[in-house]
Amino acid sequence: MNNEELVAAAREAAEYSYSPYSNFRVGAVVVSEDGEVVSGANIENAAFPATSCAEATAIAAAASKGVRKMTTVAVACIDATDVDGAYPCGRCRQIMSEFGVETVLVTAGPGSEVREHGFEELLPYGFDL
Ligand code: THU
Repeated sequence: MNNEELVAAAREAAEYSYSPYSNFRVGAVVVSEDGEVVSGANIENAAFPATSCAEATAIAAAASKGVRKMTTVAVACIDATDVDGAYPCGRCRQIMSEFGVETVLVTAGPGSEVREHGFEELLPYGFDL
């Protein structure tokens, strides 16, 4: 899938968001080194810290299928008017680092700019054992 297709898939994934508390729907897709694409959405909880971000949901789904190397993550927050709202949180960046993510695509709703970042740019000096 090319970048356009990946962000389209992330936007589609956001349609399945469970976000009754924030009303901020986020979708993500991860691409495995074999080209497999796995999606996820943010899943909120009445106990707010129990919420799973879209990126974390997608990465957990991919890892649960045996994926151990993920090259690209695309994220879309379809309710944001400003693309800056879609950047992965720090926790999700750390989760991405575990599986060797190299490239992150960030966008908002249809027509929004797609920004492509090298992972090092998003998490310099990340923790690793
Ligand atoms: N959220 C994500 O899913 N990904 C991010 O990168 C940032 C925030 C979710 C968590 C919560 O459900 C909602 O966005 C508002 O914070």
